[in-house]
Amino acid sequence: MALAEKGIPNILLENWREIKEPSVIHEADKCLVANEAFMDLFHIGRRQSIQEMFMAQFISPWPSYHLRLGIRQALGRRLDGSEFDVEVISMPFYAAGDGMFYQSIVRDISRMKLWEDKMLQSERLTAMGKLAGEIAHEINNPLGGILLYANLVKEDLSPDHDASVNLEKIVKLATKCRIIAKGLLNFGRSSSRSYAPVDLNHVITEMFSLIEDHKLFAGVRTDFELEPELPHLMGDRGQLEQVIINLLINAAEAVNGHGRIRVATRSQGLGPNVELVVDDSGPGITDELRLKIFEPFFTTKQHRGGTGLGLSITHGIVQRHGGRIDVEESPFGGARFRIWLPLDRTYGSRT
Ligand SMILES: Nc1ncnc2c1ncn2[C@@H]1O[C@H](COP(=O)(O)OP(=O)(O)OP(=O)(O)O)[C@@H](O)[C@H]1O
Ligand SMILES: [Mg+2]
Repeated sequence: MALAEKGIPNILLENWREIKEPSVIHEADKCLVANEAFMDLFHIGRRQSIQEMFMAQFISPWPSYHLRLGIRQALGRRLDGSEFDVEVISMPFYAAGDGMFYQSIVRDISRMKLWEDKMLQSERLTAMGKLAGEIAHEINNPLGGILLYANLVKEDLSPDHDASVNLEKIVKLATKCRIIAKGLLNFGRSSSRSYAPVDLNHVITEMFSLIEDHKLFAGVRTDFELEPELPHLMGDRGQLEQVIINLLINAAEAVNGHGRIRVATRSQGLGPNVELVVDDSGPGITDELRLKIFEPFFTTKQHRGGTGLGLSITHGIVQRHGGRIDVEESPFGGARFRIWLPLDRTYGSRT
């Protein structure tokens, strides 16, 4: 047997076999023996011989000359090519003649990494939101002045004056800027003065009735699965209306005139929380986009005048309500936006 020939004492191997974490013994880069946990982690079949494999196949980067002992993070690579984040602890195992054997324990840390990414993203969004709110505040007042004076000049000019067409454009564009600045101002606000009991089902049906005649919804089947007698939550109704409108319009834009949208609410089994889910059958959101869509001004809709503020404002509102928003794949094939809101803000965070 290959291991016995290498001269590794049995007692050492027996002790090693007690290790429950994915572990492998190797001579430089060449694998000698791996435990079941290691085989499972890297999807190695029981019939495959680990002795024909090399550490560099599983851990990237793997040092080509001197093995780096100790703990480090790297990329794990399964035999099927899929990759995940790992932490590798490498240490000497046994020295025999001129042969030196090592043991490496490998931990799958992909879930922890994902969580770290989310934390980072949320911190970044909070910082960006604050900054955006401050800038908007600075811009809002001079914009008000521009609009005021442009309107005064407009009043002084006769409607058929050459300049009035251009002046009209100035007013229109400045008004648009003002709307954007107003949206941004919402970021900075975290007052709970306007919190009152809100019937989320009612907000949904009311908001939908406002926009259902819009051509965006013409060829779209929109279903509602609203939990009867959904408990009211403490919230800012105006802001929650904005959340619903943003998600509905995004879903309608995603299905682009034909497809399905479903809006569902639920509270049963969720403790003191309500859940809102908006599904669509659009193209969905790639992993790459998923990290960006909540950033202010991120849009893929430049062609139709998207500001990229819808989701970032939505994110801010949900956070202010002590809730959470997530995006995943919908059973319809498109995107699923899921929001959890605590019934009473005191249950959630105050950030
Ligand atoms: N339901 C969805 N399906 C697919 N992609 C989506 C969906 N909702 C949002 N997105 C993506 O997220 C981006 C950001 O959305 P967000 O609502 O913040 O801005 P926008 O819709 O582009 O612009 P605005 O909301 O100002 O019209 C969109 O441009 C789009 O790429
Ligand atoms: Mg939008």
